[in-house]
Amino acid sequence: MLSKTMEKALNGQINAELYSSYMYLAMSAWFSGNGMAGFANWMRQQAQEEMFHAIKFYDFVGGRGGQVALAAIAKPPGAWKNAIEVFQATLTHEQKVTGLINNLVNQAMDERDHATNIFLQWFVSEQVEEEANATAILDKLKLIGKETGGLFALDQELAQRLFTLPAPGA
Ligand code: FEO
Repeated sequence: MLSKTMEKALNGQINAELYSSYMYLAMSAWFSGNGMAGFANWMRQQAQEEMFHAIKFYDFVGGRGGQVALAAIAKPPGAWKNAIEVFQATLTHEQKVTGLINNLVNQAMDERDHATNIFLQWFVSEQVEEEANATAILDKLKLIGKETGGLFALDQELAQRLFTLPAPGA
């Protein structure tokens, strides 16, 4: 059984993951509107991955006898200067989410809530990957600079990303 404080914190994380999904969808829309279909695809897949994260928290709260409480999702930004700015914002956002996950782990440890702590470990590892993915693309964009051929090639590469929904309970 979840404590009320842990339940509240986990509900907060459901909202944070839903916001992430919403923000990446906004980024996808911006890339689409700017003729970068591959980047738009990458962000759209990312939005789906964040929805999966939200559902993972949702199922965990419900599965431990807690009450899921959905709150309003904040409006994401809608415009950026260029692809570098988008991926800088992505990395900054993921670093913030890593901090949120770490705070949840600290809270679970303080409450001696071992089940929640174990559940959160998946997200601790996932955040390492999330930050690495954003950093890798940001590094490539910095290397490419204003060279359109490089940007075109990266757009084609990012068009290949496909998020496959893991099996239930994964
Ligand atoms: Fe759900 Fe990008 O962290």
